[in-house]
Amino acid sequence: MDAGTIQDYYEESHIDYQLIWQLPVSHGLHAGYHDDDHSSHGAAVENMNRVLADTVDIGPDDRVLDCGCGVGGSSVWVADERGATVQGIDLVPMQLRKARKLARKRGVADRASFALADFTNTPFPDDSFDVLWGIEAICHAEDKTDFIAEAARLLDDGGRLVLSDGFRAVENMTPYERESMDKWLDGWAVPNLADADDFRAALDDAGFGNVRFEDATENVLPSSKRLYWVSRLGAPLAKLMLKAGIRTPTQEENRVAARYQHETLSAGLWQYGIFAAER
Ligand SMILES: C[S@@+](CC[C@H](N)C(=O)[O-])C[C@H]1O[C@@H](n2cnc3c(N)ncnc32)[C@H](O)[C@@H]1O
Repeated sequence: MDAGTIQDYYEESHIDYQLIWQLPVSHGLHAGYHDDDHSSHGAAVENMNRVLADTVDIGPDDRVLDCGCGVGGSSVWVADERGATVQGIDLVPMQLRKARKLARKRGVADRASFALADFTNTPFPDDSFDVLWGIEAICHAEDKTDFIAEAARLLDDGGRLVLSDGFRAVENMTPYERESMDKWLDGWAVPNLADADDFRAALDDAGFGNVRFEDATENVLPSSKRLYWVSRLGAPLAKLMLKAGIRTPTQEENRVAARYQHETLSAGLWQYGIFAAER
């Protein structure tokens, strides 16, 4: 997926994320990890950061690279709550500006910085980081092994990789299933989903050890449903606004994708998972 397509998608759909995902409060462009202690939308979105940070035990001595940092919510959370030094990278300048502003507002600008860079080909020297982090970003890479190779290069000895993302669960789909998957993947500028077993094998091939995978589909279902209902209930108005030229085709495809991500998740065509591994 080329950088221009990803930039256009995130710039045009930013308004939807602001309204529906409460971005000015949540600062997270990702699903919430719901559990007994985190049942509201905002608490679950923040909890995803906690779950990933606990999975690889991030502490104050860690240098973290947040790959596809969006508006910086996770980077700032990790710098603030775990005291780590975080470098966020993304392809969208507008998001990076918001991330820098958030870091200043939360008083962690000395520990959380942001740069325009592609996580498959970064400007950082070998062994620069202790943790490579990615929430719902690596799915945007055409070939996920490009990211894995870069992660292996960037991680210092003993470094950890942690990411949460969607993974394909079914190889052979019916034409309707394929079409439904395409509607959400195309609408969200995602070229394809990796199969979790293939992803694990690619980590093994790149020299990673202690590879772990948690199926977190149940935990993100409330977020998936939230998007589904907003998409369905908002359809009549959104279609009128498209006709009137008030909303763009990209925004409409974003809305349609929100419906199909849930239908396909409920149908078991993909799963939401958390990978962790060590260098
Ligand atoms: C769904 S958003 C998640 C943002 C953030 N991780 C969060 O949880 O709030 C995915 C982000 O990945 C970024 N992205 C996609 N491909 C990228 C690439 N090759 N290099 C850097 N960032 C990328 C997008 O611009 C977008 O901001």
